[in-house]
Amino acid sequence: MNSGELPPDLVDCLRSARHVAVLTGAGVSAESGIPTFRDAQTGLWEKHDPMQLASPEGFEADPKLVWDWYQWRRKLLAETSPNAGHEALAEMAQHFDSFVLVTQNVDGLHERAGSKGVLELHGNIRRNICSRTFKPISENWMAEHAERRPPPSPHHPDGFARPDVVWFGEALDEATLEAAFAAAADCDLMLVAGTAGAVQPAASLPSIAHRAGARVLDVNPAATDISRSADWYLAGPGTQWLPTLARTAGDASRGPAGTGGEDL
Ligand code: APR
Repeated sequence: MNSGELPPDLVDCLRSARHVAVLTGAGVSAESGIPTFRDAQTGLWEKHDPMQLASPEGFEADPKLVWDWYQWRRKLLAETSPNAGHEALAEMAQHFDSFVLVTQNVDGLHERAGSKGVLELHGNIRRNICSRTFKPISENWMAEHAERRPPPSPHHPDGFARPDVVWFGEALDEATLEAAFAAAADCDLMLVAGTAGAVQPAASLPSIAHRAGARVLDVNPAATDISRSADWYLAGPGTQWLPTLARTAGDASRGPAGTGGEDL
């Protein structure tokens, strides 16, 4: 795979862009074997309604059931690793003046791959918060109360530990959302990968970028509304295209051929 397979104007854009914003979704984690939200409702969990497993009302009604589902998903997650797509995005960051990675995924794989300052719009399944106060709960506290399902909260007598993810009916963290909108409005290039673009407000980030004058690139094996309105659409999985894009961006930051460190 080399940059010759990319459209020449995309190569130019990767080499001249200074500010890049990225939006990722479940597709970038698909090749790590992370089940999507729907796929995670298999086997034992098939009979449960999503609202029962991922809503404040569901948790209130049956905290143990919801806790056990998340613990099962965490166990699956612990057995997976970031893939070449996550790694390429982590590497790509160093080639631009600013690189803001916004994700809808709660799996934390971007961070595990080395990406910094990831804006996790839907939270992170690995962290815990108090069900009453939403204050973070330390890993030490969790370890000390691991036998309880769910563990109690240190912040409220009636609270429990719950995953730090956005459930149905809950608002996204305002500061995270604002930072994502600002990154979209301020970038030269918006790279979208592995999202169906069906869930708002994340789905509107590419059009915000486009309206502000940025070019939009979409990577997805199946075309979506985002692919159809993007400047470039690369059909295929993230592990195929993201490493090519990172390499192309890296070629630019090393300068023209023959000026690299070894050649001087
Ligand atoms: N590489 C890139 N994209 C892929 C790959 C791959 N290997 N495999 C699948 N895809 C694409 C699919 O074609 C689809 O367009 O990833 C997209 C996944 O779509 P969704 O499952 O709808 O995931 P996402 O867009 O992230 O959903 C947003 O919805 O379910 C909620 O909270 C959940 O954060 C999630 C949000």
